[in-house]
Amino acid sequence: MESMISITVEVDGTSVDVPEGTSLLTAVRTAGIELPALCSDDRLSPAGSCRTCLVRADGKIAASCVTPAVSGTRVEAAADDLRQLRRDAVEVIVSALPPRALADDNPSELAHVCRSLGIGPESAQGAGGRGGDDSHPYVHLDRDLCIACGRCVRMCAEVQGTFALTLVGRGADTVVAPGTGGPWAESDCVACGGCVDTCPTGAITEPGPARGLTSGIRPAAAVTRTTCGYCGVGC
Ligand code: FES
Repeated sequence: MESMISITVEVDGTSVDVPEGTSLLTAVRTAGIELPALCSDDRLSPAGSCRTCLVRADGKIAASCVTPAVSGTRVEAAADDLRQLRRDAVEVIVSALPPRALADDNPSELAHVCRSLGIGPESAQGAGGRGGDDSHPYVHLDRDLCIACGRCVRMCAEVQGTFALTLVGRGADTVVAPGTGGPWAESDCVACGGCVDTCPTGAITEPGPARGLTSGIRPAAAVTRTTCGYCGVGC
């Protein structure tokens, strides 16, 4: 439960009141400054793995999503060097993806972030070829678009309580996979749709035609929002 105690931090010279226990990412966004945060989802515990949300807190570079807001902290977010650090972090992630990850009609969170930072498909240099998993009737995995942010794994475990997913591989070859090791259709997945909802790249989507997109990339969250937010029943 969110704390009722309010604390004040300074974000780029402006005082911002936030509930005690919230992150610097929340404080910066409360101040009206948007940061990329590719491994973060407000519904999940923070991972701090992608480094796209860097700010300066009391003079030190910090991943804002995993740094608690403490009363009196002076946060810098909009400085040019910080924008460049965040852009560099996004570019490193994008460099391993195929260009279609940033196609003009790609509606993913990653593509949106890249457009806002002026990162184009030419930065996506990945060769692809890691294949996919079409075995499940309600979930499709495109491994070439996975950035190993772990949001799907945490959604499955922390919100759904199913623990059906894990990350496998090392370094740039790390991708999400069913924890049982076989095809998705034979995993413990209950088709809640939570992984589809939180995936920031379109690596996990609903199966189906490309819905008019020239890139062939299916919209992720746009096609799975349901009454409760992530139930695959679709009520
Ligand atoms: Fe903060 Fe990924 S969103 S490190």
